[in-house]
Amino acid sequence: MKKGLILGVLVAAVAFGAGTYFGRSGKQDLTISSSTSGASYSGGFKADAATKPEGVIRSVAGPAPTNIVVVKDGESIQAAIKAAPKGTIVRVMPGTYHETVYIDKDDIRIIGVIEEGRRPVLDGQKKLNDAILYSGNNFVAENLEIRNYKGNGIMGQAGNNFEIRNNVIAESGVYGIFPQLGQNGIVEHNVVSGIADAAIYIGMSDNILVAHNDVFDSVAGIEIENSRHAIVENNYVHNNSGGLLAFVTPGLPIKDTVDVIFRNNFVVGNNHPNFGAPGSTVSGIPAGTGILIMAADDVVVESNIISDNKVAGMIITDHANASNITADPESDPNSDRVKILDNVMLRNGYDTIPEAKALLLADGKVGRKNLDIVRVGPSPGSCIVNRHQYITAGVDDFAECDFTNTAATVNYLLPPVPPREIKPGERGKVVYLGICTGCHTYNGRMIGPPVQVIQALYMDNPQGLADFIAKPTKKRDDYPEMPPQDYLDPETRLAVAQYMLQVTN
Ligand code: HEC
Repeated sequence: MKKGLILGVLVAAVAFGAGTYFGRSGKQDLTISSSTSGASYSGGFKADAATKPEGVIRSVAGPAPTNIVVVKDGESIQAAIKAAPKGTIVRVMPGTYHETVYIDKDDIRIIGVIEEGRRPVLDGQKKLNDAILYSGNNFVAENLEIRNYKGNGIMGQAGNNFEIRNNVIAESGVYGIFPQLGQNGIVEHNVVSGIADAAIYIGMSDNILVAHNDVFDSVAGIEIENSRHAIVENNYVHNNSGGLLAFVTPGLPIKDTVDVIFRNNFVVGNNHPNFGAPGSTVSGIPAGTGILIMAADDVVVESNIISDNKVAGMIITDHANASNITADPESDPNSDRVKILDNVMLRNGYDTIPEAKALLLADGKVGRKNLDIVRVGPSPGSCIVNRHQYITAGVDDFAECDFTNTAATVNYLLPPVPPREIKPGERGKVVYLGICTGCHTYNGRMIGPPVQVIQALYMDNPQGLADFIAKPTKKRDDYPEMPPQDYLDPETRLAVAQYMLQVTN
């Protein structure tokens, strides 16, 4: 958080703090709502009549293919996928596989076979960048163990209708599970740990369910970024620097995050020292944050157990007050319409940051040893129920919510949706959106340098850019090395280079 803005608040606190405190404590009526009765949330995603699912959807990838091939220890998963027709289940037997697997066909399922606890292990030996990169639709990955990659565990690049479940992913680079630019996907029952950015990162995607995952020892636990209509429920999120995050990263082609439900999660002891790459967005998360909402709209926080997060149970902020953020004139910087329902909050904020202490003082809350919820910057239209339960700073102006639960919303999944339409000439754009924006934003530092900096370097030299991404060399001391994109053919590399050089935001 920036010092200047917070200092202004501090001065106000000294001037008015005592008065507000005594004024309030005398005669405040409590408004008490029950979470088991009362109205249900009616916002959220509305499927049109044609796509409206019948009953509860538990899978999105369509019917399972009948063609099955088996990969045994010592064989190559990639070779099997290359040979397989579209519509194949690739069964992978227990063993160790040192490879990167690319899937650009539709209807491929990689299903690990677990025998007496022994899984197929994809081991990057800290040499390979990615374990699995898929751009096909209706992709399923199950029962795998993924270790020691430098870039991504499982990354999706514009594939729709994906299911990623029952995988164990550890020490695998920047993003553990990272569907980028996908619609209609499930990420469930995964165990993800030791990730240097987000363990589960939903990027620029729609209609997503993230459920029943165990996520720990990472910088960011579960991150919903520049995405719409996501439900994050029943996850155990512990010992990360920040647990659950809903935010807008500025400078990406999709400008908002809207309609996220965080419910029934355990968000416990997220106090891991922040080991995010210096200067990256997540390196700005104060270690000790349970839930972080930054510039995301319509985020509902319901029935979570949020405990022992030392900075705060929940931080709501705008872009102006966040560190490592370069504003984007096309993104609304505020977290609008945050909705805080009943949650169990215990022992949060016991070792908080000075900025948060100042905000407590500004609210006239002197001598509090804990802090559940802190809000900085505007968040118009926000509401809360049973506010008296929590120790809060900056949320006194939140209204009462006119609902107490989200019971009427089961999930936002759909029957299989059509593949993303790629018109002729759009290849460069889709690769830019699906791959490059995982690490590059237009105007700020993400994992890699800003696109503006790249444009200045390569403006008249798209071929030079295309050659660089095929075989990157180390350029900057304070950045990690860029992973090679040599799996893209030369024509596609040139198309994405040309596209990157002309984007304007
Ligand atoms: C996993 C993260 C990641 C992804 C994905 C990624 N980059 Fe990068 N990129 C980086 C990092 C980190 C650097 C800085 C490397 C350095 O300075 O040594 C970089 C640097 C660059 C540079 C600067 C080269 C120079 O001469 O300074 C270009 C150009 C570039 N990336 C293009 C791309 C394109 C195009 C894509 C998409 C096809 C892409 N990148 C995808 C992380 C990534």
